[in-house]
Amino acid sequence: MNYLELMKERHSVRQYKDISISKEDAQKLKEKIEEVNKKSGLDFKLVLNDKFAFGGLLPKYGSFRNANNYIICAGDKVPDFEEKYGYYGEELVIYAQSLGLNTCWVGATVSKKVVKLKMKPSETLGCVIAIGYGEN
Ligand SMILES: Cc1cc2nc3c(=O)[nH]c(=O)nc-3n(C[C@H](O)[C@H](O)[C@H](O)COP(=O)(O)O)c2cc1C
Repeated sequence: MNYLELMKERHSVRQYKDISISKEDAQKLKEKIEEVNKKSGLDFKLVLNDKFAFGGLLPKYGSFRNANNYIICAGDKVPDFEEKYGYYGEELVIYAQSLGLNTCWVGATVSKKVVKLKMKPSETLGCVIAIGYGEN
């Protein structure tokens, strides 16, 4: 499938199957993230099997289920940080789509406390991208 078809196919998914991302897909995602980090200077990070970031008392915006995997969009607070993580994050969500994985950008309905524990203290958190095999 080409890039344009992947873009058309992709839509936000908030309900995921209760299964782990396969070792093969996780490895491919890690390699892609490494490539994107190199060219962007950002620090995207894949977190797998974390039940805490989307748990707890969060605002009722969206309704996530089995969102146990996510990509942290983080980096140094450069002037164009938001534009950069949005641009390169889109590259990641389209790549995920090509692997048969679904995604959703999440800025509000995630525990920033939990996410920040997985980041370097000096870095800024943009948002996260929930990722997994979608129910819908
Ligand atoms: C920066 C950013 C932050 C977002 N934060 C949330 C969020 O906290 N919770 C949520 O359910 N969706 C969130 N979204 C997802 C949007 O609501 C979603 O993009 C919108 O529903 C459009 O859906 P589509 O991706 O299928 O076009 C966010 C999207 C962006 C770009």
